[in-house]
Amino acid sequence: MKAEIAVVGSANLDLVVDVAKVPLVGETVLGGDLRRIPGGKGANQAVAAARLGRRVAMIGRVGDDDAGNGLRTSLESDEIDTTHLLSTPGTPSGIAFIAVQSDGDNSIIVSPGANAHLSIDDLVAAEPTLESAAVTLLQLEVPLNVVTAAARMSGGTVILNPAPAPPGGLPDALLAHTDVLVPNQTELAALAGVDCPVYSTTAADLARGLPCGSVVVTLGADGALVVDPTGVTHIPAPIVTPVDTTAAGDSFCGALPDAQIRGETLTAATEWAARVGAATTQRAGAQPSLPTPSEVEQLLG
Ligand code: RIB
Repeated sequence: MKAEIAVVGSANLDLVVDVAKVPLVGETVLGGDLRRIPGGKGANQAVAAARLGRRVAMIGRVGDDDAGNGLRTSLESDEIDTTHLLSTPGTPSGIAFIAVQSDGDNSIIVSPGANAHLSIDDLVAAEPTLESAAVTLLQLEVPLNVVTAAARMSGGTVILNPAPAPPGGLPDALLAHTDVLVPNQTELAALAGVDCPVYSTTAADLARGLPCGSVVVTLGADGALVVDPTGVTHIPAPIVTPVDTTAAGDSFCGALPDAQIRGETLTAATEWAARVGAATTQRAGAQPSLPTPSEVEQLLG
């Protein structure tokens, strides 16, 4: 069966340690036991959409190693089509080093490994999937030229989560092919070339200045701003005490197209995404924390 959502992006093995507080430069801290968890922004968004009931195909690269085999198996256990998740001999899989603070916030360093080897030729091989999917979901843990090509080749709605934000901003060609851009406040500031932090009042102005379709700015516990040609709408988030915020942004991005494919407006889709994102903060880890629709309701109480 054809995929409804094509995800072009990263798959990483997350090496996670709980700490009271992430270390400052030059500081050493002691943490908890090391946990190995499937992650990567692309794979997380793919799993998020699949758990919400969507047919998803993953286009990416893993290493020809134990981590890569585990990441592939994990995606397949969520019934994600991995035909175009290729193995890269002689290159390690992507690895993310994650420190999770006791307040649920985190710091992440990504070693891209095989993700950096995704090529435009790989997309050409997956072109029928990109052309027929209702939505293509993109992030920036694979090469920027490949993300730009994927946006161009997509036949459906293009949703771009510009994470991590590239220092030089985004190519105009990528923004021009983006229907919905989903930055957080830090990413929006980087794209607009202004100093952090960006508060919601200025976020709407900055978002309006970007040459793409619509912008949904995620505001963490404050919810999200939908900035589209009809105006600006603030969507509050459910009030929760986070356990671990890892992948909350990814589940938000996976939930948006889930609701759009059901025919919801962008505003209604953002309300759903804010609920799914908040529910994701209630459990630890990236992919283990991604909820089904019934879990969203249970986790939010
Ligand atoms: O967004 C969370 C993800 O960022 C983690 O799973 C990690 O792999 C990095 O890609």
